[in-house]
Amino acid sequence: MKRVKTIIEPFKIKTIEPIRFLTRRERQQVLTDAGYNLFNIHADDVLIDLLTDSGTAALSARQWAGIMEGDEAYAGSRSFYRFEKNVREITGLRHIIPTHQGRAAERILFTITGGEGRIFPNNTHFDTTRANVEMSGADAVDLPVPEGALPSVEGNFKGNMDLEALEALIRQRGPEHIPLCMITVTNNANGGQPVSMENIRNTSELCHATGIPLFLDACRFAENAYFIKLREPGYRRKSTREIAREMFSYADGCTMSAKKDALVNIGGFLAVNDDNLAQKARSILVVTEGFPTYGGLAGHDLEAIAQGLREVLDEHYLKYRLRSVAYVGEKLSEIGVPVFQPPGGHAIYIDAKAFLPHVPSHEYPGQSLACELYLHGGIRSCEIGSVMFGKRDPSTGAFQPARLELVRLAIPRRVYTQSHMDYVLECIGEVFAKRDKLKGMRIVSEPPLLRHFTARFEPL
Ligand code: F0G
Repeated sequence: MKRVKTIIEPFKIKTIEPIRFLTRRERQQVLTDAGYNLFNIHADDVLIDLLTDSGTAALSARQWAGIMEGDEAYAGSRSFYRFEKNVREITGLRHIIPTHQGRAAERILFTITGGEGRIFPNNTHFDTTRANVEMSGADAVDLPVPEGALPSVEGNFKGNMDLEALEALIRQRGPEHIPLCMITVTNNANGGQPVSMENIRNTSELCHATGIPLFLDACRFAENAYFIKLREPGYRRKSTREIAREMFSYADGCTMSAKKDALVNIGGFLAVNDDNLAQKARSILVVTEGFPTYGGLAGHDLEAIAQGLREVLDEHYLKYRLRSVAYVGEKLSEIGVPVFQPPGGHAIYIDAKAFLPHVPSHEYPGQSLACELYLHGGIRSCEIGSVMFGKRDPSTGAFQPARLELVRLAIPRRVYTQSHMDYVLECIGEVFAKRDKLKGMRIVSEPPLLRHFTARFEPL
């Protein structure tokens, strides 16, 4: 029997939010006023906002209904118990500790386990995770598989941990200096690439053999689970819920930003099996986040997370989600735009170095491209290259570029339709056609830390 092949948004739209159209001249003014930094512009001046997939999801009718049902009791809120039950059903972890977002869970975890002389391996740290490790005085070590760093190489699981490198690190530095090892699923800082079940299992075995606990940075666990279903032998017939359960079964704990795969605008959690660690975490939680049954969130936020965690594992949703992101990547590749291959789960990363080969790293090709996409079509993207990670040696003044010059188009969940994306594709195509004319940028002012948020630029 013939089946309809078109994959559609598995929802109807009941509430809408108008977007505002500016002229090119108006956008030029916005850009100049913002010092060519897209973090400095008002969201109302953006037509299609692909800055991040974090906290930008559209809630479902059931989530809104849950929000009305939210129990705002300080202690023992009904909404907390519903949240706890749903998180435990997926993760199987014993202690579920709510936090206001992912980095709050990270701060609590690394305040307890970090400190001078300690080392935390990760397939690739997200920037807040790295910052929290380093703030404790410990070292954050990235161990991605080598092919993960090559944008044009195809591969099913380019987000994997490099097991040989991990083994060598454990041998050289000693397991007693490694309080825990982390795997980020999907690997956001490395093209949004997934991690295979085999890699999670082998990392777990390697760590556990020397007594090191394994944690997942689980922000995008459902997208990762669906990639496993599609790409890893033996998983096609399993439900994504079963696959997610198996992923978590190899871990001793996790941090989670609910702003991604729990389909909410704010929230997160820390989940652990270790009773002692949980007790310490709850003590910090009470001081900095809130009582253990709300942890910096409203009762209604906990309801929205509980419901979002059910919806995110729906396979009609995940099929549409991964397909709609891949659509953008494939269409860009068709017109010759260099993108990180294969498309990731939540974002497409344009290789700005290959897009603008005439702009050297110290003239920030990613920043130049991101600004041009805004100017040309009102699209906001995010530079992930030498603006974010490049450094100047304080003594010699020599410029150290980032490993890759990328521009991330992060796709909010359930927010934009295919015609929005067709508009984005057309706009990028037009910029690509005149890429020779694009010039680099110069930094006019920058703060000492996390400069990408507030630095000001000028076109050269
Ligand atoms: N871990 C990963 C892999 C992330 O991508 C993020 C956030 C966090 C942790 C921190 O979570 O924002 O709730 O505190 N990523 C967002 C992004 C900001 O745009 O990629 P948070």
